[in-house]
Amino acid sequence: MNSNGKFEGYEAIGAIRFNDIIIEPGQSKTYIVVMAFGESKRDIESISNDVLKETDFDSLLEETKLYWNNKINISYKTKDSEFDNWMYWVNFQPMLRRIYGCSFLPHHDYGKGGRGWRDLWQDCLALLAMDPENVRQMLLDNFGGIRFDGTNATIIGNKQGEFIADRNNITRVWMDHGAWPFLTTKLYIEQSGDIEFLLEKQLYFKDLQVIRGEEKDNLWNLEQVNNQLTEDGETYEGNILEHLLIQHLTEFYDVGEHNVLKLHGADWNDALDMASERGESVAFSALYAENLEDIAELLKVIKDKMNIKNIQLAEEIQILLNVNTVEYNSVDKKLKVLKKYCEKCKHSITGKVIEIDCDTLIEDIKGKAKWLKEHIRKNEWISNEEEFSWFNGYYDNNGRRVEGGTGNETRMMLTGQVFTIMSNTANEEQVRSIIKACDNYLYDESVGGYKLNTDFNEVKTDLGRMFGFAYGHKENGAVFSHMAIMYANALYKRGFVEEGFKVIDSLYSHCNKFEISRIYPGVPEYINSRGRGMYHYLTGSASWLILTVLAEMFGVKGDMGDLKLEPKLLLKQFDENYKAAINMTFAERRVHIEYINEASKEFNEYSIKEIYLDNNKYNSENYSVIYKKDIILLDEGKTHNIKVILE
Ligand code: G1P
Repeated sequence: MNSNGKFEGYEAIGAIRFNDIIIEPGQSKTYIVVMAFGESKRDIESISNDVLKETDFDSLLEETKLYWNNKINISYKTKDSEFDNWMYWVNFQPMLRRIYGCSFLPHHDYGKGGRGWRDLWQDCLALLAMDPENVRQMLLDNFGGIRFDGTNATIIGNKQGEFIADRNNITRVWMDHGAWPFLTTKLYIEQSGDIEFLLEKQLYFKDLQVIRGEEKDNLWNLEQVNNQLTEDGETYEGNILEHLLIQHLTEFYDVGEHNVLKLHGADWNDALDMASERGESVAFSALYAENLEDIAELLKVIKDKMNIKNIQLAEEIQILLNVNTVEYNSVDKKLKVLKKYCEKCKHSITGKVIEIDCDTLIEDIKGKAKWLKEHIRKNEWISNEEEFSWFNGYYDNNGRRVEGGTGNETRMMLTGQVFTIMSNTANEEQVRSIIKACDNYLYDESVGGYKLNTDFNEVKTDLGRMFGFAYGHKENGAVFSHMAIMYANALYKRGFVEEGFKVIDSLYSHCNKFEISRIYPGVPEYINSRGRGMYHYLTGSASWLILTVLAEMFGVKGDMGDLKLEPKLLLKQFDENYKAAINMTFAERRVHIEYINEASKEFNEYSIKEIYLDNNKYNSENYSVIYKKDIILLDEGKTHNIKVILE
């Protein structure tokens, strides 16, 4: 093709062709291809002269490998060394994602645009494990993207904390967005013990969108600042806790006709985008409920550890708090509360701050969480004629329940199961039923495990474009790594270790079979109906996988800054010396944590008997916790051994 030729819709490739040569037995031929850049042609020439030699090339390659290996600071050792190696590559994935963008970006057929809000927060999960140093500031900056009505900016600038008003004026509210910042913040606080973070101040984002995407603010235009102002024209700053409360409390009242949180533009599943009038997401209602409960727990820590009795909040928030719990049962009343609040902060807010007693606040949000979970348990648990039971996850744009049915007609989605399990909405028995139903309707070993949904055999235009994708592709029935891994995470959390392991193991085993997955080591965005891994390397699910293997499988957790060990390794994961180990950083110290299971006990049968820190027996009041103060005392430069004896 000449330089004026034009093709559209294909991926670009630059190719080099060498002359044909014939190699005799035992002979070899080396080609070195160098990509270089510089200011002038001479720069390129000198680089070429310097490195276009086989020996220099080899040493540069080693240097490059070393550079990246040094960046990957987590490694694992279990009986399955291929799994350990695969996970090593997974650790590398979040770095590639930060350089190249999300899984949909480099591929022509998967939409366009920058990194999204959800990705922004979830990418921090991996950073917290691998490179926590700058995370605090990053989190703080990101909170500046939240609007005072609980929604958030959707166009993210290039600079950290830069959020841009949408010039095209496309309103889209993803109802899950308010839930992710808390998950990341909670993890950060658990690891660091930095509860003070919740009282740091930050601005709010302001643009044309008001009333949670339903209306425009006629008094605002693009020339004005992108920050929420008070009636006096001052920029308003509220604490991080206030930001989180606004996100969760507004959601609580933003319900559809079944008193479940409205789906709006979509939730985690971007392709559920055609039910903005009447759609509802049970799945994310469950997650918000759990978040509310966890916010209450952190409030207790603020109260007890920081000795703070009252919290300062913007006065408008009282509207969302002083509601009689009986009124939670009424959709109309809820919507009225929400409307009242949103109208109050439509253009500006008063800027007045009130003091709310911690205990009152805790009681209020706990009440909301409890109500929401009970509502889901009571109304969304479904059973079919084949005697399988699980949670309905959605309502469509005709207000109809999405899941149910029997046999080949069964409609089931994984998302609603994941979050009801993760959030403790499902009780133990329900978790057991869900696992059975998932195994029956969603599990398919030939494509790597648990699919996102069954085949609806319908282009369901009253729910989303996902039903326009062929079944077994993308968000329609593929094994979508992100949700599959969150399923594993939820199962581990609830103590269903064997089942959680199965989810990860089937995904890993599949990816590891190159002949069918056709991918290098690592986790792809999804696995298509032919078993091929798609959009490899750039998926946010790598962060969740690292987190799950680290904090659940190996059970290495932060406990308000202390190191808590709660291994959930199966007997078959210990090597021939009865050991399983992890290398990582905690509280800025390199640690090698080794679990020793000499009695060959299965998970559930073993517990921690003794801990040795650099060969000295470690004693703490809580035998599975190593205090941060003791870790900080350790020498900075070297790796420290933590030996954990199980029995
Ligand atoms: C992508 C998006 C993510 C979205 C998911 C499902 O997943 O980046 O925000 O929730 O599709 O629609 P990822 O690239 O993280 O695998």
